[in-house]
Amino acid sequence: MDVKKNIAVLVSGGGTNLQALIDAEKDDRLKSGKIKLVLSSSPDAYALTRANDNGIETCVADKKKYPGRSEYCTALLNELDSRSIDLIILAGFMYILDSEFINRYKNAIINIHPALIPSFCGDGFYGIRVHEAALNYGVKLTGATAHFVTEVTDGGPIILQKAVEIKEGDTPQILQRRVMEQAEWQILPLAAELFCAGKLSVEGRTVKISE
Ligand code: GAR
Repeated sequence: MDVKKNIAVLVSGGGTNLQALIDAEKDDRLKSGKIKLVLSSSPDAYALTRANDNGIETCVADKKKYPGRSEYCTALLNELDSRSIDLIILAGFMYILDSEFINRYKNAIINIHPALIPSFCGDGFYGIRVHEAALNYGVKLTGATAHFVTEVTDGGPIILQKAVEIKEGDTPQILQRRVMEQAEWQILPLAAELFCAGKLSVEGRTVKISE
């Protein structure tokens, strides 16, 4: 029997994407990996309650307690290295990681972004702001992207994308919810399973998915 990959999910807020991963593990859509740790950048994140309710180990690395990015990222690395983590998932983790962190886990960090990259992404585009920007621009389609993390914010190789229609009368909140339901909560668990099953390979900017 194949050994499951150890997954750490990094969170900062509500944790609905974490919940989608937990649900996928429960019903065996995520069967090649196990969520070993939920690490939060904030002690108040509701994602921690979701983890506790499901018997998953949690850890808080409060970013306010560290003088800078490098000290904070070193603390995160210590937590992850000591638990033999194979895959790191950024699920609403509102912090830009430094190059040491990203290089240590090269092609082993997956981020979920609530737009069709390369639209509405990069520095300053996170959470509800992404949906405000899409509505302000007047696009008819948006969606979500699961991608590997590189030093370019939201610029790493794309694993999966799913489009979502924008409807008349949408508010940023309504659109955010539709993008989560129709795209994020589906493609993130799938990307995690593909990674853990060893089905993803990166060639330049392109991610190949094998059968
Ligand atoms: C999600 O929509 C996620 O895609 C987004 O934050 C939300 C977190 O929600 N992430 C980014 O904008 C990263 N650039 P959640 O805590 O309920 O999963």
